[in-house]
Amino acid sequence: MPSPSPPQSDHLIFFVNGKKVVERHADPEMTLLFYLRKVLCLTGTKYGCGTGSCGACTVMISKYNPDTKKIRHYSATACLVPLCSLYGAAVTTVEGIGSIKTRIHPVQERLAKCHGTQCGFCSPGMVMSIYTLLRNYPEPTTEQLMETLSGNLCRCTGYRPIVESGKTFCEESTVCQLQGTGKCCMDQEENQFYLEKKEKMCTKLYDESEFRPFDPSQEPIFPPELIRMAEDPHKKTLIFCGEKILWMSPTNMNEVLELRMKYPTAPLVMGNTTIGLNAVLKGEFHPMIISPVGLTELNFVDFTDDGMTIGAGCTLAEIKDILTSTVSEEPKEKTKTYRALLKHLRTLAGQQIRNMATLGGHVASKHDYSDINPILAAGKATLNLISKEGKRQILVEELFTTSLKEELRDGEVIYSVVIPQLSRWEIITAQRQAQHLENAFAIVNAGMRVQFREGTNTIKDLKMFFGRVGPTTVSASKTCEQLIGRQWNDEMLSEACRLVLDEIRIPPTAVGGMVEYKRTLIISFIFKFYLKVLRELHKLDPRRYPEIPENSISALEEFPIRAPQGIQMFQCVDPHQPPQDPVGHPIMHQSGLKHATGEAVYNVDLPRVDEELLLAVVTSSRAHAKILSIDVSEALEFPGVVDVITAKDVPGENNIDGEIIYAENEVICVGQIVCAVAADTYSHAKQAAEKVKVIYEDVEPQIITIEDAIKYNSFFFKEKKIEKGNIDRAFYYVDEIIEGEIHVEGQEHFYMETQSVLVYPTGEDEEMVIHTGTQYPTHVQDLVAAVLGVPRNRIMCHMKRAGGAFGGKVTKPAVLGAVAAVAAHKTGHPIRFHLERGDDMLITAGRHPLLTKYKIGFMKNGLIKAVDLQYYTNAGCTPDESERVIEYIVLKSETAYDIPNYRCRGRACKTNLPSNTAFRGFGFPQGALAVENYITAVAFKCGLPPEKVRDMNMSKTVNRTAYKELYNPEPLLKCWKECLEKSSFQSRKAAIEEFNKKNYWKKKGISIIPMKYSIAVPNGYETQAASLVHIYQDGSVLVAHGGCELGQGLYTKMIQVASRELKIPSSYIYLSETSTTTVPNASYTAASMGTDINGRAVQVRFLSILRSSSLS
Ligand SMILES: Cc1cc2nc3c(=O)[nH]c(=O)nc-3n(C[C@H](O)[C@H](O)[C@H](O)COP(=O)(O)OP(=O)(O)OC[C@H]3O[C@@H](n4cnc5c(N)ncnc54)[C@H](O)[C@@H]3O)c2cc1C
Ligand code: FES
Ligand code: FES
Repeated sequence: MPSPSPPQSDHLIFFVNGKKVVERHADPEMTLLFYLRKVLCLTGTKYGCGTGSCGACTVMISKYNPDTKKIRHYSATACLVPLCSLYGAAVTTVEGIGSIKTRIHPVQERLAKCHGTQCGFCSPGMVMSIYTLLRNYPEPTTEQLMETLSGNLCRCTGYRPIVESGKTFCEESTVCQLQGTGKCCMDQEENQFYLEKKEKMCTKLYDESEFRPFDPSQEPIFPPELIRMAEDPHKKTLIFCGEKILWMSPTNMNEVLELRMKYPTAPLVMGNTTIGLNAVLKGEFHPMIISPVGLTELNFVDFTDDGMTIGAGCTLAEIKDILTSTVSEEPKEKTKTYRALLKHLRTLAGQQIRNMATLGGHVASKHDYSDINPILAAGKATLNLISKEGKRQILVEELFTTSLKEELRDGEVIYSVVIPQLSRWEIITAQRQAQHLENAFAIVNAGMRVQFREGTNTIKDLKMFFGRVGPTTVSASKTCEQLIGRQWNDEMLSEACRLVLDEIRIPPTAVGGMVEYKRTLIISFIFKFYLKVLRELHKLDPRRYPEIPENSISALEEFPIRAPQGIQMFQCVDPHQPPQDPVGHPIMHQSGLKHATGEAVYNVDLPRVDEELLLAVVTSSRAHAKILSIDVSEALEFPGVVDVITAKDVPGENNIDGEIIYAENEVICVGQIVCAVAADTYSHAKQAAEKVKVIYEDVEPQIITIEDAIKYNSFFFKEKKIEKGNIDRAFYYVDEIIEGEIHVEGQEHFYMETQSVLVYPTGEDEEMVIHTGTQYPTHVQDLVAAVLGVPRNRIMCHMKRAGGAFGGKVTKPAVLGAVAAVAAHKTGHPIRFHLERGDDMLITAGRHPLLTKYKIGFMKNGLIKAVDLQYYTNAGCTPDESERVIEYIVLKSETAYDIPNYRCRGRACKTNLPSNTAFRGFGFPQGALAVENYITAVAFKCGLPPEKVRDMNMSKTVNRTAYKELYNPEPLLKCWKECLEKSSFQSRKAAIEEFNKKNYWKKKGISIIPMKYSIAVPNGYETQAASLVHIYQDGSVLVAHGGCELGQGLYTKMIQVASRELKIPSSYIYLSETSTTTVPNASYTAASMGTDINGRAVQVRFLSILRSSSLS
């Protein structure tokens, strides 16, 4: 605990964007991200996850090393950088490198112009990652670019345009749109070519010659004052004392050891990527912190004849650089373990985390998912430990092996790690399987080493370590012991697999599940190790040990990390089109430059409002339970708390068509909002929310799965059904019938900007103003009016842009808006309600899981005559959009096929899960997957290629869709043919078949799927749209319409429409926001119809203005 009389805090001195910051009250609890956004009001740096995983908060940190006299620039995720760790650092944010008000930086310009921004929420992070790379390597390679972006997520662009923008800086800059096709776009006249005789196609999306050059000499210098500070010989331990935490930054090793001895439970915060993560995800709290980060005594590398010693303070990125150069200089034989480490140092987390995380912190964390510890342990690495009492050495392995279990003793610090060289007859390997090659925790990883008796294949020593199969790295020590003395052959392999599965038991309750898959991976890793060792033995003594069979070689080949490539072809604009008419041109997103400079304002960036309170919610921890009591007394006494809001405080309706705003009497899912705490800061609100005591009594049944719902007959709405032909008769005459089922699981939206609402009562006539990043302002207005019991004309909902939505912001912002509005109503204060990522994922749910049962009748030639489908979605606990989703699935499930006898039924299952909602494609992707699954099953049964069965069953004549729209399949058939040709489908397929024949362990596949997606909604009035246009006396035009800018470029397209209709340049036209005050009763922006309906509304508005002006 902090001492009763806290010591005096030092001043925290650092620089942000070239300006000196002296913080007299640095709070050790505060992250750099919070400080930038809330204290310095630099909102360009975004919050996306708070756990270092998304890169939205990337900044560049520069530090001077007084020993080497070098400045290190590195990217870091500001959400994990403790403010107090920044003493003497220079921080550069997206605002510090360029602005549309002064001069945009080439990185920002190129990202925007290459169409690398859509919603733009990830863009500042992307910019800062690329910028940092250029500060270190002005002409990077594509590989360096890919590596630098490995820690930045984007949910909109698919990465290709982002990588392309970065590639324009690369030494081998080939941003050729036709790369890979054998032709170069530059060879084409003005980048145009003819697809067929009449159609002129373009591929040029931007003009590289417009890009301003990048001149590294023009970048800001490192502040000389910080160099002087770093070289000051009288440095002393810095102390920062916050409300709850005491931070100590010692300046030499002796002080570290003294503090460590004095405060044995205080962690050593280095990169903070374990401590910081645990604070967010597990709520871990440390009242004392010792932070020797940057201590040069811990930051060294020594080479000896036997290996290498690395200081515990070296970051994983620094180690990767050192190992890379060592490997390139030293003979292969001396660098076996280094190469094994390098394999994982490239893919472990993202670049920013590798820049921050230290070796000592990594080893000491003993994560079950550690990628490095299994290799260090297998490679016989030792730890040099130091304390006030002396020094000692232990093997890394001893930290994990149950029998030898060694813990760091009180007062001890890992000083360095010694990695020895391996002998000639020793072989080491590192393996890892994750859901994604980069920036994803391994599902299982491994480090394995074998040593043979010189000149033989007899095992002298064997070590196998696995990650993610136990609480920390697990050693298969018993297995290894039993195999010593055995020959390296197939029998040994079988024995090894049997023994290891016996020794490593993964309980069914293991974190992350996938128990069977993990067991399979263990075996697969051992097999790959076996093959690799056989290969090495062959290299060591080719005469005695044969090469492995050719068809097994692919098992050892790694999947390469490749830069995404692609080409976009679009119809060229008619040369006679007037030059100021922008329709058809690939113009940059209207906010592209603002996205890239961080000047685009999102809901979460709105400045603080006077008297505003922050809201934190208490959510249900039970799936289905009675609420026996809610005790808020302790929460109310918490500092800064103004009020606690429950269902009793709702002045209007609390249950609006089944959507419950605050839980009342019972909870129906985990994550349901029970009550909300309003306080002066979010931190206070959150801590107080933890003090609310809710007593539940579980209620049966607890319906979780679709199967549970079917069992309990728990459904929303009536069954949705369509039917044509005579299905029963068709099943009677078909050649074959297959039946089956397919489960498609749900999906998280993970829009980069989490949901947020700012609500304030204006103080007059029950007016309430709401700002939120929604896809459906009308719905927000509707629910808030209902919950407050006021007419809708008192509620003004505004949205400027959303940082991604994907369907997740159609209905949920209304519920969150209603929660906040009740709080604003009760307290009379403006309320800001911003969900942390974890809460967002918990409360707002996502895509509907789908179970499809199918029965298909078909002829031997693949022609499908009868289809009977039964769909079940898992809707969760409230209706939300589930009726539409199941309608969509049923109505669109015909996809591109024309089946004469067809029955499709759908039910939305009511379960005790958070309520699922709209999600890209609105159920269509799940439904279509089921359809393509049965098509493949038919093809398999008939022994035909699936594409042939698809072709055969596609609509061929004009008919009507399930919505009764007239449908001409000609474009689809043309598109199908074109895709087959352009993708060289058949020759690729042949090449793949050839590859698969030759490779036993690695297989490739290719598939082509036709798709018809009708833009239609069951209720015609939902496709209505309106617009409001102001033409000012200076000729400038302000356009408002009902559509929401979600990154899809809706505003950009509306400007194109307006410009064409008014025949004025785009620069005269402006769109500011979407609001219920300008366009009432607007439909949602979803279902692929935003541009169509709003574009038409804008067009019609202008036509009527022009008509009336020509009449008058
Ligand atoms: C988003 C994200 C993704 C990640 N992905 C991966 C991944 O894919 N694979 C993987 O292996 N890891 C991954 N990690 C984990 C990461 O590698 C570790 O968190 C990191 O190496 C810890 O180092 P640190 O310097 O940040 O430790 P800190 O958080 O600063 O400290 C961690 C612990 O180590 C102790 N400690 C620190 N230095 C010493 C020392 N010298 N002597 C004694 N004790 C010490 C501290 O007391 C503390 O208890 C990921 C982390 C994040 C945040
Ligand atoms: S990485 Fe910091 S907010 Fe996601
Ligand atoms: S543009 Fe990258 S997340 Fe939207």
